[in-house]
Amino acid sequence: MEVKNFIRNYKVVPVVVFNSIDEVRPKLKAMCDGGLPIAEITYRTACAGEAIKIAIEDFPEMLVGAGTVINAKQCEEALSLGAKFIVSPGFSEEVAKICVEKGVPYLGGCVTPTEIMTALSYGCDIIKFFPASNYGGIGTMKALSAAFPAASFLPTGGISDKNLAEFLEWDKIFAVGGSWMMKGTPEEIAEKCAEAVRIAKG
Ligand code: 3PG
Repeated sequence: MEVKNFIRNYKVVPVVVFNSIDEVRPKLKAMCDGGLPIAEITYRTACAGEAIKIAIEDFPEMLVGAGTVINAKQCEEALSLGAKFIVSPGFSEEVAKICVEKGVPYLGGCVTPTEIMTALSYGCDIIKFFPASNYGGIGTMKALSAAFPAASFLPTGGISDKNLAEFLEWDKIFAVGGSWMMKGTPEEIAEKCAEAVRIAKG
C-alpha cells in the first residue's frame, strides 16, 4: 500500500525511541501483535540507524519511517536504510529537498503560518504539529487551517488514548502521532497498540 494511504488507514503513528538494540525486535513484534504495524523510529538515540535497518529487514509487514530527523545526513542515512517516510520536529528545508527529490513523504513540524507556507512550497501538505498540546491543540490547528485549506495535520506531543478520539474527530487530522503506546512490557505495548487501533477505527 502507498505510504500515505497506509498511515491514513491506521491514523496513528507510534513514535518509537530505542535505547538499545535488544529492545528493537520485541517492541516491533509487540506493535505488530497489537495490530499497529507502523513505526517512526526516532534519531534521538545513537542506535536509530541500526534499529531502522533491523525493522526493515525483519518486519516486512511494517511501515517503517524515521523521526526526529534534523539534518540532511540523518535523512540520507535513514533513506539509504529503507525508511519510507521522514518526520522532523521542525521544518528543515535541506531535509525537504532530499525527500522531494526521492519522492518520499516528509512530515516536517510547523506551528506558525510562515512555517506552513514553507512546507507547502515544497509540496509537503501533511503538517506535523508539535508539540500539539503546548501550541494550543485543535483550536490552533483549526485557526491555521482557515488560511491553508490544502494542509492536513499530524499532531504529536501530549496525545494519548485519553484524547486520541477528540483529535481524530476533525477531518483535517491526517493521523495522530505519539509515544504513549510504547511504554511498558511487550504485552502492555501490544495491548496499548490494539486499544489505539480500536479508538482510531471508531
Ligand atoms: C514526537 O516527537 O512526535 C513527540 O515527542 C511525541 O510526543 P509524546 O511523547 O508526548 O507522545
